[in-house]
Amino acid sequence: MVAVYTADDVRRAVSPREAYEAVREAFIAYARAEWAMPPKVYVTNYPAGDFRAMPALGGGYALLKWVTSFPGNPARGLPTVTGLVLLSDAEDGRLLAIYDAASVTALRTAAAAVLAAETLEREDARSYAVVGCGVNGAETVRALIARGVRPLVWDVDERRRHAVAAEHGVRAAAGAAEALACDVVVTVTPGHEPLFEPGSLRPGQHVSLMGADGPGKAEVAVTEVARARLFCDDWEQASHGGELTGAVAAGLVSRGDVTELGAVLTGEAPGRTSGDEITLFDSTGLAIQDLAIAKAAWAKRSELDLREIEL
Ligand SMILES: NC(=O)c1ccc[n+]([C@@H]2O[C@H](COP(=O)([O-])OP(=O)(O)OC[C@H]3O[C@@H](n4cnc5c(N)ncnc54)[C@H](O)[C@@H]3O)[C@@H](O)[C@H]2O)c1
Repeated sequence: MVAVYTADDVRRAVSPREAYEAVREAFIAYARAEWAMPPKVYVTNYPAGDFRAMPALGGGYALLKWVTSFPGNPARGLPTVTGLVLLSDAEDGRLLAIYDAASVTALRTAAAAVLAAETLEREDARSYAVVGCGVNGAETVRALIARGVRPLVWDVDERRRHAVAAEHGVRAAAGAAEALACDVVVTVTPGHEPLFEPGSLRPGQHVSLMGADGPGKAEVAVTEVARARLFCDDWEQASHGGELTGAVAAGLVSRGDVTELGAVLTGEAPGRTSGDEITLFDSTGLAIQDLAIAKAAWAKRSELDLREIEL
């Protein structure tokens, strides 16, 4: 029998706080080589969108996520991110559970954004913003609130920014500039055009760049990347399909310039080294994050009235 987690089941199983802890542990386990993750495979059908196959192994389980990014979908009333997550027993290979991928993705993406911000922001950071109030941006607002932070929100879509602000009891920014000037900014846009123009990043700022998770996407101008101390979730992925890709291709950034978040969390590498530094975290999204959420949800299975199917 295989357990089926709908989006509601995933959300009932794992709170934003639990997601944060699970994702933190996953980054550490991966940095210590206790968990394994072959690079994700992109199956592209641009300009429509792409499919990703994302495997991981750790904690006694194996996982595969088959997930999309179709940025034009919201205009057609369809979600950008859809797909399935499969969780198997790593000892005997049994398929244990399948999950709605969008809800797993949102929980782990928001958790990584907040984890990077808490790890890399300057000590006296006061103002926070989330730019892009779609599925993953809204979840990031929820994750920040769960960690005691009330961010400003901004979205080019007026209806969305006000809906997310009202739902979470936070303020919609007066304009993009107000949000982008905050001490800590999380960007979760489709990455069609850079939000941060040349010269716009402020000393001491931290930005978690979540939206540019595939080839050709960027939320920060390439020259701005070169001004910052750089962090990423995984160099293999980030150098090929993330925010840093343009700067790597232009020869402005190489492996030695970029620290993986897991290395900071284990204490193997320094994080921010001064209050003036600009820190950027490039997230491409890791299968180990999905494994963290799937595993946490599986641990709660007896508390949920899950549907089971026989294949
Ligand atoms: N790094 C990761 O782990 C990860 C995980 C999931 C999704 N993503 C990426 O994040 C992006 C957003 O995903 P989503 O599912 O939330 O999409 P979505 O379509 O639900 O939301 C995107 C939002 O960004 C807004 N937006 C577009 N341009 C903007 C701009 N210039 N300024 C402010 N807001 C703007 C849109 O109006 C929309 O509300 C996609 O590119 C997706 O591929 C990354």
